[in-house]
Amino acid sequence: MINERTLILVKPDGVRRSLIGEIIARVEAKGYSIVAVKMMSADRALLTRHYAEHEGKPFFEPLVEFMMSGPIVAIVAQGNRVIEGFRNIAGTTDPTLAAAGTIRGDLARDQGTKVTQNLVHGSDSPESAAREISIFFPELV
Ligand code: RTP
Ligand code: MG
Repeated sequence: MINERTLILVKPDGVRRSLIGEIIARVEAKGYSIVAVKMMSADRALLTRHYAEHEGKPFFEPLVEFMMSGPIVAIVAQGNRVIEGFRNIAGTTDPTLAAAGTIRGDLARDQGTKVTQNLVHGSDSPESAAREISIFFPELV
């Protein structure tokens, strides 16, 4: 779909390390369009909705605590196959194993924290993208 959209989050570690520009630059350099950007502090209610699929898992509470540890930047990017394409440039979940050339592979590493800190989130399917964009950008839907 030419106008496919995905939700990207620069997580608190990315904001703390001043990587907002670097991350947006990589998305733009790949050729996707930035449709919306919002810096915000996510609260527990919003994060529980966003991470509903992970509720009950051992890393859920540390994940929510981490995501509340500082501001985040929510981004909607658009383009043909952007969901798959952003996951590819983000790299795999574990930053130690993420390929060089990816955001996580180049810019993140294991920090020995309770939950994996890996700079970015990207929607993993069209259904997740629609659901997540409606959570972070209700005004766009
Ligand atoms: P994301 O949702 O953030 O784009 O990342 P993902 O699809 O690669 O990973 P997912 O399985 O959806 O997990 C969401 C986030 O939870 C943290 N996590 N930590 N064992 C762990 O320490 C662990 N497992 C997951 C990561 O921050 C991951 O990105
Ligand atoms: Mg995920």
